[in-house]
Amino acid sequence: MFSGMTGKSFHSTTSGADVDGIKVGIAVLVGTGVMGEYFLGFWVAVGSGADDLLSKSSVAGVWVGPLTGIMADSAVASPVQAVIKTQAMKVRSNKRFIKAKYSRGKLIGDEILCYTRRMAYQGLLHKYGTLLDLPLYTRRVSLLEGNTPLIKADNLARQLGGGFELFIKYEGLNPTGSFKDRGMTAAVSEALGRGVTTVICASTGNTAASAAAYAARAGMKSIVLIPQGKVAAGKLAGAMAYGAQVIQIDGSFDDALTMVIEITNKHPICLVNSINPYRIEGQKTSAFEICDVLDSSPDWLCLPVGNAGNITSYWAGFKQYNQMKSTGLPQVLGVQAAGAAPLVLGHPIENPETVATAIRIGKPARGELALQAAEESKGRIIAASDDQILDMQKTLAKLEGIWVEPASAAGLAGLAIEIANGTLNPKGKRVVAICTGHGLKDPEIITKDMQKPSIVPPRLEALEEIIMR
Ligand code: F0G
Repeated sequence: MFSGMTGKSFHSTTSGADVDGIKVGIAVLVGTGVMGEYFLGFWVAVGSGADDLLSKSSVAGVWVGPLTGIMADSAVASPVQAVIKTQAMKVRSNKRFIKAKYSRGKLIGDEILCYTRRMAYQGLLHKYGTLLDLPLYTRRVSLLEGNTPLIKADNLARQLGGGFELFIKYEGLNPTGSFKDRGMTAAVSEALGRGVTTVICASTGNTAASAAAYAARAGMKSIVLIPQGKVAAGKLAGAMAYGAQVIQIDGSFDDALTMVIEITNKHPICLVNSINPYRIEGQKTSAFEICDVLDSSPDWLCLPVGNAGNITSYWAGFKQYNQMKSTGLPQVLGVQAAGAAPLVLGHPIENPETVATAIRIGKPARGELALQAAEESKGRIIAASDDQILDMQKTLAKLEGIWVEPASAAGLAGLAIEIANGTLNPKGKRVVAICTGHGLKDPEIITKDMQKPSIVPPRLEALEEIIMR
C-alpha cells in the first residue's frame, strides 16, 4: 500500500497489490495543470520494471512521467510536452499506453498502461478564475456556465456574400439560457463570500433569471425589478421558477435600474446588475474562450448592445488576453435596436421601444465604455431596425438551426447591414457573432405570426395527402 505520493503538479494516493505475479495498482490522481485542469484515473503497471515501480518509495518520481504525459496530451501544459517527447504514447479513447522509459532523465520502468478520464468541466471560475479580478474571500457558486460552442456558420456566411469565416458564439446554451450566467457566477460568488444574504437587480428578463438561479444555489434571497409587460415569457417564468421575488415596475428598465441603485445605497442588499464590477470580470471569459478555440481573436466581433456591460466585458477580455498571450484584438461592431439606440444617436432615449425587449434600454449604464470599446477597436456602434433583427433571427434559425431570441440576432443583423452597405468588407476575415440568448426565451415572437400547424385525422392517406402534394 502506498499513499500520499506527490508528483510535480498533482497529488495522488495509490494502493498496490500482487495479482498472479503481476503488480497492479490503483491510484486516485488529482492534479492541477497550467490551466487548472483536473484529472482522475487509475493505472496498471506491467513489465519488468513494474516491480520497481510499485515497491520503491522513490516511485513518486515515476508518476510525473505518465501524468505529465496525460496533461500534455490534453493540450494543457506546453512546457511539459518537451518531457514526454521521450515517451511513445498511443491514445485510444481513455486508454493511454505510455512507454515511460524516462522521466526527466530517470529510468522509470518498462511500460505503463494508464487509464485516465478527464474530470468533467467545472465552470468558469474554476477554469479562468486566476485571470479574473475577484477578492480572495470569493466562494464559488457555479452552474457550470460558459464553455459554450463556437459554431461555424457557413450557410449564413454564403448568404451574406461568402469569402469569409463566420462563427456563432451560442451563449443561449448557458444554464439559464443567456450569457448573463458568466457574470452572475462571479457576482454571486463574491457576494456569498462577503456574507450577502439578498441580491437585487433591474432587468429586461435575462439578468433576472440568472440572478435568481445563482441566488437560489447560494441560498440567498433574490429580488428582481422588471418593466411591466415588456419581459418575454421564458425569462419571467425562469425568474419565478428559481424563486425570485418578482416586482413589475410601471416604467422602463432605466427606471427600474435607478430604483435598485437607490435601494442598495440605503440597505444591505447586493446589486448584481452589470454596474457590479464582478459581472464584468465574469463576462470577460467569453473572449478568453473564443481566443482559446481560434488561437487568436477574430478580426471582427459583432454583438448586441443594451445596458452595454457585455461589450465592455468583451473588450476588456480581449485586451487582457492579448497582453498575456498576444492573441490580437478584434474590431468591435456593437448593434442597438433602432428604437433604443442612445449610443448611435448620442443622447438618452426617454421611451425606448423595440421588439428586441432584452435591449429596450434608453440610458445604458456603461454607455461611455461601450463607445470607448468601439473607438479603441476601430469598430463602431450602429442601429438595426426591428424588421432587420427579426429577419436575421429567422434566417439564422432556418439556415443554421440556431434559434436565438430577437436581441441576440442584432449583432448579425448589424453585420448584414454593414456588408450590404459596403462599409465592412469581410473578405478573407474571421468574424464572430455573439448570440446572447436562446430562442426559447421568447417563443411568442415566432408563434404569434405563425400559421397554425395543419390538423389531419390519424390516417395514412390524410398524412400522405398533406405531405406529398
Ligand atoms: N442580449 C440579450 C439576450 C440580453 O438579455 C441583453 C441584456 C443584451 C443582449 C445586452 O447586453 O446589456 O450587457 O449590453 N439584458 C439585460 C437584462 C439588460 O436585464 O437581462 P448588455
